Amino acid sequence: MNVKKLDEQPVGACCSIIYSHPLATWLIGESFHPGGLALTDELALLTELGPGMRLLDAGCGRGTSTVHLAESTGCEAVGLTLESDGVQRGQSLATATGVEDRVRFVQDDILRMDRVSGEFDVVLMECVLSTLERKPESLRQLYRITKPGGFIALTDVTMAAELPEELSGSIGAALCMADARDLDEYMSLVEEAGFKVKEYRSAKEAVQELIKKIGTRLLIADAAIGLGSLKVDRSLIVAARDALKTASKLVEEGTLGYGLIVAQRVG
Ligand SMILES: C[S@@+](CC[C@H](N)C(=O)[O-])C[C@H]1O[C@@H](n2cnc3c(N)ncnc32)[C@H](O)[C@@H]1O
Repeated sequence: MNVKKLDEQPVGACCSIIYSHPLATWLIGESFHPGGLALTDELALLTELGPGMRLLDAGCGRGTSTVHLAESTGCEAVGLTLESDGVQRGQSLATATGVEDRVRFVQDDILRMDRVSGEFDVVLMECVLSTLERKPESLRQLYRITKPGGFIALTDVTMAAELPEELSGSIGAALCMADARDLDEYMSLVEEAGFKVKEYRSAKEAVQELIKKIGTRLLIADAAIGLGSLKVDRSLIVAARDALKTASKLVEEGTLGYGLIVAQRVG
């Protein structure tokens, strides 16, 4: 992974390149958002996702939530991902879980879903809105493809101030912070797209837990590089550790957090 080259990419593309890297999976796990599947289950509960309903997991990464929700709720799910290996990984997971008849993966951009309209009961977006360059247009597109009465359910990184210099570029993108907003601004964006916010809350504890988990794994990675059992450029580990330290400070100050929003298409 060439960090300099990543800095030249738009945030969304940069994010998808980083999450395709095996080190990212090793550090974060298969679920690429704070709160993991427990927070995903909370969104499913709040939207009453159930059998026969249609779910779009917009920006599904490797399809971990897509497959989990198809299995746990009985819904039909489509996972939309930018990752080059997202479709294959998602489909393999669906087959291994036995839900391949109800789950489908597509590699495409949210903004290119022009041929779909009013199809989904629930649109899930976990740690994706923060990475989108064109947030208003993307949300309008998602409004169009949600059924009247359906929901958009999202969790994301929240940032209440300017991003510090040391977290700009690819490191900020990797942590979904480069273009993150505060919870109020996300809610305004969601409402401006036509949705009506029904539930929202801070989920700051999720980001604190994730920082702790990555910190522990970075220590292990460093030791493994020293022993020669992990072939990764040590500068990546050092950069990630510095970024994590800054992120942790921002959480303590109340600048960096995580938020949950569930909103309904009323019209
Ligand atoms: C932080 S990852 C989260 C992945 C997944 N939602 C999860 O929680 O495991 C962000 C995802 O958003 C996807 N993404 C970013 N911009 C996108 C776009 N314009 N259209 C579709 N997916 C996008 C990336 O490919 C990446 O998989």
